[in-house]
Amino acid sequence: MREMNMASMGILLIFTVISIGVGNAKTDGFISLKCKAEMLGQYGQQSLLECVIDPPDENTDIRVVTWKKASTRGFLPALLVFHDGEFPGEQPGYSFAEPAWNNRNMNVSLLISNTAVEHDGLYECMVTTTSGIQTQTTSLKVTAKYSKPAILSNPEAITLDTGGTLTCESDRGYPEGKLRWFDELDRELTKDSQMEAKATKSGLFQLSSKLVLEQGSNVSDYTCGVFNASGGKEQEATFKVLNTPKSAETAFRKELDPATKIAAPVVVIGSLIAGLLLALLVYRRRSQQARRHSTTPLMGEHHKIGTSDGEEGDEKC
Ligand SMILES: *[C@@H]1O[C@H](CO)[C@@H](O)[C@H](O)[C@H]1NC(C)=O
Ligand SMILES: *[C@@H]1O[C@H](CO)[C@@H](O)[C@H](O)[C@H]1NC(C)=O
Repeated sequence: MREMNMASMGILLIFTVISIGVGNAKTDGFISLKCKAEMLGQYGQQSLLECVIDPPDENTDIRVVTWKKASTRGFLPALLVFHDGEFPGEQPGYSFAEPAWNNRNMNVSLLISNTAVEHDGLYECMVTTTSGIQTQTTSLKVTAKYSKPAILSNPEAITLDTGGTLTCESDRGYPEGKLRWFDELDRELTKDSQMEAKATKSGLFQLSSKLVLEQGSNVSDYTCGVFNASGGKEQEATFKVLNTPKSAETAFRKELDPATKIAAPVVVIGSLIAGLLLALLVYRRRSQQARRHSTTPLMGEHHKIGTSDGEEGDEKC
């Protein structure tokens, strides 16, 4: 018994020497604590930081578990502590992920009940069992989906001729995203815009982008899309430019359909009648003229005959 203890002490010593030699490795025993390198958390929802002792060892009792968050000024006070059967340090909003966790449960994952922007970052989990101590780190990437963009126009009604300014806004997103503009043919117009990103108290971002519309441009639709930090499109909104005044007028006339439906036949029939009357008038005039001229043609014929006679006479000569 004593010899075995001595032997294991020896092995422990060798391992310690090796781990000191390796430097960065924080292994100090025989247990293997495995943590997922990165977990994703949604703003306002539960987040899981997964760490388990693997493979589980039936003879292992967990004595101490400490979860801490790293900050630029080192690790902050523990978020969750288990120590020899007690939970001496448990901050609100943090718990073991396994319901009714006890020291025989090798899943020491941390659960964050209501994920906020400040939860984004690096965490450290330290576990002490009857067979050693091990420390691992895991990071939480918090994301929040941006709201559907809203487009405001100045002036309120923009036509192809007026030009103006469009402002696109989207908020409550994380991390910092981008607003981009496109026309109806999906051609990007972002280079003509100016974007601003503001972090609110909660750490969520508020994005705003201004696009100046040139007078006489022929773009009819402006689409503003909000893109997340990894460049994926989340949401979009489209602003439609009003038709030009001319086409707007025709559209307005078309809207007066009942009136035009009555007016059009009246106009057609009216002009038909007017045309008929005119034709009749012209016809009557012509026939009157024809009657008056009916004598003159005879004279003309005579004259013509005369000349033709003369011509004939010329030929005869
Ligand atoms: C650890 O426990 C959490 C919460 O019950 C669970 O979601 C997760 O899958 C568990 N991990 C493993 C490796 O069993
Ligand atoms: C970004 O958006 C894309 C598409 O919606 C999505 O697949 C991706 O997970 C998002 N990334 C982040 C970090 O939110």
